[in-house]
Amino acid sequence: MNNKHKLVIVVGSVREGRFGPVVASWVADQARQHGGFKVEVVDLAEVEIPLALPAESPKYAGESYPRPAGMAALTSALAGADAFVIVTPEYNHSYPASLKAAIDWHFTQWTAKPVAFVSYGGAAGGRHAVLHLENVLTELHAVTIRDGLAFPNYFTAWQDGLPLDPQASGYAKTLLDQLAWWAGALRSARETVPYPS
Ligand SMILES: Cc1cc2nc3c(=O)[nH]c(=O)nc-3n(C[C@H](O)[C@H](O)[C@H](O)COP(=O)(O)O)c2cc1C
Repeated sequence: MNNKHKLVIVVGSVREGRFGPVVASWVADQARQHGGFKVEVVDLAEVEIPLALPAESPKYAGESYPRPAGMAALTSALAGADAFVIVTPEYNHSYPASLKAAIDWHFTQWTAKPVAFVSYGGAAGGRHAVLHLENVLTELHAVTIRDGLAFPNYFTAWQDGLPLDPQASGYAKTLLDQLAWWAGALRSARETVPYPS
């Protein structure tokens, strides 16, 4: 349906043997069941993301920014999105370098769009990673959503691809309701008045 918001779910970890796709798959199911979104999952492990950036800044280069061919699908997905869910683990009290690199190769694709977070990790459930992401995405003029989902000690909190917490789906619905609200509000605003730069 045309009135559904385009939701891009980003799998932030690219590590061998990673858990990220399990979490992202569950989030995608929750978003499809929610009904308000057209869902696309973007796995950074399938994207060419060099660490060395071009000389110019993506903030000012616009369409002419020289990205590698293997990044085109990611750039197109980010540009077309109305909303994002970033699925992130916690690495050394922050988020993975793969995610930072993917973020830094883009700028306007994030601007005036809402971003929600689903995190997992040890005792802190990835909350340190999310705090850092909130800070970074604010620089890109994205709007971060207050309610997130965090899965502490994910290695005992998930079974057969599902969280054991019976309330997890309810928490996901709250997050997705808020994300849908922001997606609609910000899409209307972007279409009505160009975002000031
Ligand atoms: C380099 C590295 C650093 C980590 N640091 C933390 C940490 O600071 N806090 C935490 O809760 N878990 C930490 N972990 C554990 C990860 O949360 C856990 O390995 C998780 O599965 C990583 O997500 P992934 O499997 O999708 O890569 C770390 C893991 C790695 C590989």
